Amino acid sequence: MTDDKKSPAGIDGTYGAFYQKRNPAHVYPVEFVVRAFLGNYPRHKTDAASYRGKRVLDLGCGDGRNMPLLSNLGMEVHGTEISQEICDLTVARMKNLGIDAKLAVGRNHALPYTDGFFDIVLACHACYYVDPGTRFSDNVREIARVMRPGGSFVFSAPIGTTYVLRGARDHGDGHMEIAADPYGLRNGYVLKKFDNEAEIASALSPAFGGFEIGSCRNDFWGIEEHVWTVACRKAG
Ligand SMILES: C[S@@+](CC[C@H](N)C(=O)[O-])C[C@H]1O[C@@H](n2cnc3c(N)ncnc32)[C@H](O)[C@@H]1O
Repeated sequence: MTDDKKSPAGIDGTYGAFYQKRNPAHVYPVEFVVRAFLGNYPRHKTDAASYRGKRVLDLGCGDGRNMPLLSNLGMEVHGTEISQEICDLTVARMKNLGIDAKLAVGRNHALPYTDGFFDIVLACHACYYVDPGTRFSDNVREIARVMRPGGSFVFSAPIGTTYVLRGARDHGDGHMEIAADPYGLRNGYVLKKFDNEAEIASALSPAFGGFEIGSCRNDFWGIEEHVWTVACRKAG
């Protein structure tokens, strides 16, 4: 990582304090993740037996809420977070739940793994955060690097109408600086949004192909969370 790619102290501190304060004993997976790994739909099929023994990365895993599901499916579970403090909290929580999760500090554009290490990468509300001095294309390159050819990448990504983008400043090519985060965690931070499916395929090609794209438009009592849900494959 070069100096100009250092992360802002802001987001590291706010997310660290957020997870420290919340620190739940139990966690529950996000609905789209359950659907992406276990559901069968016209544009997305799964096979629960296919996961056993696979090595999965939960990128930007947060409190680890999706890890029990990944572990129950028989996978070797790895995760990254942006500080050692968050990693330690999540490892301890998983240990209490009987899950041996291996966590490491990493950023979307700088992951601490060798080339081709993972069979599957999950990025639940995470891979679109863009650190200063980088662009979303740097994240795509790095995620592809740590995956084996043919590996599966499952992620969510913001639709331009989602709650956190209200009043956001446009930095070009879908890179938006957050200005009014209702959770107060991400103001000043940049994320990449997508206004249509073609933009997703274009941003991830040619490193990834076989795009299966869905979307969720939720109104959680005033939090209008609008996200793309995507499954695709590492090329090669
Ligand atoms: C909205 S939370 C989602 C956490 C978790 N995936 C979940 O579903 O609960 C976004 C996570 O991305 C992490 N994050 C923020 N910026 C990041 C970056 N540049 N690289 C990697 N992770 C980042 C944050 O620490 C945070 O835990």
